[in-house]
Amino acid sequence: MTKSALITGITGQDGAYLAKFLLGIKYKVFGTYRRSSTPNFWRLQYLGIFDEINLIPADIIDSSSIVEAINISQPEEFYNLAAQSFVGASFEQPIGTGEITGLGVTRALEALRQVDPEIRFYQASTSELYGNKAPFPQNEQTAFNPSSPYAVAKLSGYWNTRIYREGYGMFACNGILFNHESPIRGLEFVTRKISNIAAKIALGLETTLVLGNLDAKRDWGYSPDYVESMWLMLQQKEADDYVIATNETHSVKEYVEKTFDFLGLDWQEYLKVDRRFLRPLDVNLLQGDYSKAEKKLKWKPKKRFHELVEIMIKEEMNRWERWQNGERFPWDAPNYPHEANILTRVLRV
Ligand code: NAP
Ligand code: GDD
Repeated sequence: MTKSALITGITGQDGAYLAKFLLGIKYKVFGTYRRSSTPNFWRLQYLGIFDEINLIPADIIDSSSIVEAINISQPEEFYNLAAQSFVGASFEQPIGTGEITGLGVTRALEALRQVDPEIRFYQASTSELYGNKAPFPQNEQTAFNPSSPYAVAKLSGYWNTRIYREGYGMFACNGILFNHESPIRGLEFVTRKISNIAAKIALGLETTLVLGNLDAKRDWGYSPDYVESMWLMLQQKEADDYVIATNETHSVKEYVEKTFDFLGLDWQEYLKVDRRFLRPLDVNLLQGDYSKAEKKLKWKPKKRFHELVEIMIKEEMNRWERWQNGERFPWDAPNYPHEANILTRVLRV
């Protein structure tokens, strides 16, 4: 029998890849999108699945729209990916982030509890929960020490997911996913920012890459690998929480070096550091131990760091070369404002 899934955040990176994966295993896929002045479906178009998705307008800050989305789709599985997901922006909009990324989870869980508590629930939890100075590699037992308003909001979502599981017997899982990237990552995240600007530098379209903290270390994986783990979690006998990672860690500086090496360029000639990209508080080192997922879900990452860097830079070169040849696509790069023109906070000397 055909299964149905409802995805909040289907217009984002993971939502689009998850939708593609579920369509590939013959699910009927429903996805919520926010009303905005300009439609934002470029990722679904880029993956060639836009026409196969059943779209429902809903906002995670509006409970009634979530209830309606559940009633319309009547899914077996609910994937809650909607979030204000940029850690940097959570320092600029801590209250909005709490509403969407934190309370949004409560709204989703409560809507499910009231409409149909049998629907299985996936919560997009995060390695940001571990915060700064955590022992590593981090696993499901490592203590949380959130270090941003984003992480605090996600921690509330993590706990409510457990509370609804333990208190109401709902099948609710936290996927504690470490950073995962792809060519359809938002441009503000460091990997895509690096690959996008590096490709433009290589083609003579840009001269400088301006970054913040180069020493931060992350465990970077590949988004299409990671969305499969979301589905696996909801196919188990018991609901549980799982770390999803590669167990490799690399600094932002290493990411830059690898990217420029691929292009045959010396990164030191193009990189500048600007404190406007430093956060009030940053997470210094993330490295995830995914052995529980490997054992119970039979999941492991397929793509490693060096392959990820290559996928990202190759696709960015391909896009900008085609752009130089006059082709235009629904990817987002040309539509973004130059970061130098974005004012986020008062920087005192
Ligand atoms: P993303 O590309 O930023 O996508 C976020 C999605 O949430 C977008 O579809 C966005 O819609 C939607 N959204 C934002 N505010 C909303 C609201 N008020 N109501 C309904 N939808 C809303 O993020 P991602 O990388 O795909 O990540 C997916 C989820 O996993 C997020 O919850 C993120 O926090 C979490 N996570 C990500 C990573 C990672 O490394 N990627 C790691 C751990 C956890 P618009 O298109 O309209 O903005
Ligand atoms: N974005 C950005 N821009 N980050 C920079 C820059 C820059 O110019 N320069 C240095 N960095 C550093 C950040 O300070 C951070 O330490 C690291 O690069 C990674 O930043 P992001 O790519 O913005 O990701 P993140 O780790 O903060 O958050 C992502 O991963 C989380 C999982 O650990 C997001 O996808 C979150 O939604 C996710 O939960």
